[in-house]
Amino acid sequence: MDSKEFARRRRQFMRMIGKDAIAILPAAPVRHRNGDIEYAYRQDSHFHYLTGFPEPEAVAVLVPGRIHAEYLLFVRERDPLRESWDGPRAGTEGAIERYGADDAFPIEDIDEILPGLIEQRARIFYAMGAHDDFDAHVTAWLNGLQAGAGPRSSRTREFVALNHVLDDMRLYKSRAEQANLRRAAQIAVGAHRRAMKFARPGRMEYEVMAEVLHEFRSHNADMSYTPIVGGGANACVMHYRDNDRRLCDGDLLLLDAGCELDYYASDITRTFPVSGRFTAAQRAVYEVVLDAQAAAIEKVRAGNHWNQPHEAAVRTITQGLVKLGLLKGTLARLIKEKAYAPYFGHRTGHWLGIDVHDVGDYKVGGEWRVLEPGMALTVEPGIYIRPSPRVSKEFWNIGIRIEDDVLVTSGAADVLSGSLEKTPEAIERLVSAA
Ligand code: GLY
Ligand code: MN
Ligand code: MN
Repeated sequence: MDSKEFARRRRQFMRMIGKDAIAILPAAPVRHRNGDIEYAYRQDSHFHYLTGFPEPEAVAVLVPGRIHAEYLLFVRERDPLRESWDGPRAGTEGAIERYGADDAFPIEDIDEILPGLIEQRARIFYAMGAHDDFDAHVTAWLNGLQAGAGPRSSRTREFVALNHVLDDMRLYKSRAEQANLRRAAQIAVGAHRRAMKFARPGRMEYEVMAEVLHEFRSHNADMSYTPIVGGGANACVMHYRDNDRRLCDGDLLLLDAGCELDYYASDITRTFPVSGRFTAAQRAVYEVVLDAQAAAIEKVRAGNHWNQPHEAAVRTITQGLVKLGLLKGTLARLIKEKAYAPYFGHRTGHWLGIDVHDVGDYKVGGEWRVLEPGMALTVEPGIYIRPSPRVSKEFWNIGIRIEDDVLVTSGAADVLSGSLEKTPEAIERLVSAA
């Protein structure tokens, strides 16, 4: 992402918080897996959004309108020995030259410098509760100020939830962000195609997962969440992650896999018969989910509200469940009583962006949020049928979800993952093309 994009975000953010405010954002901490082994480092999403700075042990401070420097970074200093183990650091010079800070200081100096900056401001934008260790520092700086003797030290200061402002900004994707989301979706489309061609009876779920990860890593992307590779009955386990069962003839495979590329996520699901042919019952259920997804995507339009795609999916799925003989009653009553919920127990989507389940309120002032161009979301209805004496046996263990990544535009929705096969015929062709 271009450094101008981060500068533009900081300018907009500072305009929004105003001149009597200061914003403090810590980088994500390094997390240990065990012993000396660390998890792969991933920067905090808000911190990344405003800085693009990729290192831990850093703090970004924004002080709108401050004469000498509005944007300060506290960072690790250069250290040849540590860098010979962990790789290069930007240091204070790099923070200014490469990451656009107006001024930069060693992280060790923050206790001396930051209280003086806070002292000048009445409102502190900070995500209290999101960073356990850092919360204590912020509280200590503030307590130190209240106890001080300076003319401005005891003025009233209020904490303001940083998330309110940043969540809202992040909801509207710029052109550069939209391009990143499209690339992340394209890589995941390739991974799903590869998995469909590879899967067949006798192969293991984890072998299919390996194909997916190979495709992600070949494009310098990584999984944005642990893929769900659920064959047969596992397709009905919403958060199935074991991915260790053998695929059998007659199984459907539900593959929910997306990648993160340069901090932007994709999240795609396809469900396909591992033998290359849907059974009549599988296909009948598949077509209901496919119709539900089409009905939901049709409602992803600027001016519609957040819940309209879900309402469309619920309606189509409930109608379909009646047609399949799985529900009985009038459509209006079945919808009102949520009779579909045992088969379709999740919502139809979520915001998508730097986080897979991206930030942004779904309701504003108690009402569903109105969709606007630049918002990105998933559309992912499903039907899951667990064994039950009330259900005809041919439907047992059918679990189907179809999930695409969608951008709201001023016209019809832009389906970022729309090139991935989805009709039963196209899926059967691709799975059989091995
Ligand atoms: N893969 C997570 C989700 O679909 O929300
Ligand atoms: Mn998903
Ligand atoms: Mn999803």
